[in-house]
Amino acid sequence: MDSCIKCCTRETEFGFCYIYDKLRYMNSIRFNPPEDWKPNELKKRQGDGNGGKYNSCINRYWRGLNVLVQIVGEELTIDGILKPKMIEIGSYMGESTLIFGSMVNWEEINCIDPLEGEEIMNDISKLNWTQVGVNFLHNTQYFNVKHFKDYSYNVADKFKEDEYDFLYIDANHEYESVKKDLELFIPKVKTFGIIGGHDYTDSWPGVKKAVNEIVINPKDLKLFEDGSWLIKRVNTTI
Ligand SMILES: C[S@@+](CC[C@H](N)C(=O)[O-])C[C@H]1O[C@@H](n2cnc3c(N)ncnc32)[C@H](O)[C@@H]1O
Repeated sequence: MDSCIKCCTRETEFGFCYIYDKLRYMNSIRFNPPEDWKPNELKKRQGDGNGGKYNSCINRYWRGLNVLVQIVGEELTIDGILKPKMIEIGSYMGESTLIFGSMVNWEEINCIDPLEGEEIMNDISKLNWTQVGVNFLHNTQYFNVKHFKDYSYNVADKFKEDEYDFLYIDANHEYESVKKDLELFIPKVKTFGIIGGHDYTDSWPGVKKAVNEIVINPKDLKLFEDGSWLIKRVNTTI
């Protein structure tokens, strides 16, 4: 019997283990959209959390985050920041981390995620936490990623104030939790740094409420078709 050459040292007959094999078929709406996805078909999408306002069938989860990261990268370049540092709260299997890492030359990507507890994504992806962790390592292997395997509120004091160029929040979407993440982590971002997150949609009223409360002028809040949001720290109340 050989060992897995892909992600671990489990014994296997096939060169890679059952976890790697399962991950190849994982149900990811970003990387592996459903078979009935028809990108060229123009129609109003129902149930997209944005009132069906996007008039196409593009993979909005893929394009929305890519557009956001491109804007973040351009802003950092304009500001002359050559070695930016970011924090991601809620990395799950590192899909969003992979997109961040591929598009900006980060000096540091700090990912915070306990990889435990109730998570709807586990039902969608049909993976357990061990498999999610293996996938995280696989997706983030090429980047300078530091993983804090804990809840955000437990590790906040490990991050310096006014040190980071970008913060992305996609963790617990309940109002109290998003509010706490914003309050604890916005101070870690430089004054002209950028703050963003996921799921500013009607499906997640807690996210919208908490974000609205820190935005000084709504016109400064940029929204993206995957439900992401973005604002400069200087335009927030924190
Ligand atoms: C929606 S998933 C993140 C998806 C990921 N950002 C992506 O787009 O690929 C939410 C993640 O947040 C994590 N999470 C929940 N509460 C958290 C907290 N307080 N601190 C850090 N992570 C948390 C969960 O374990 C889960 O992995």
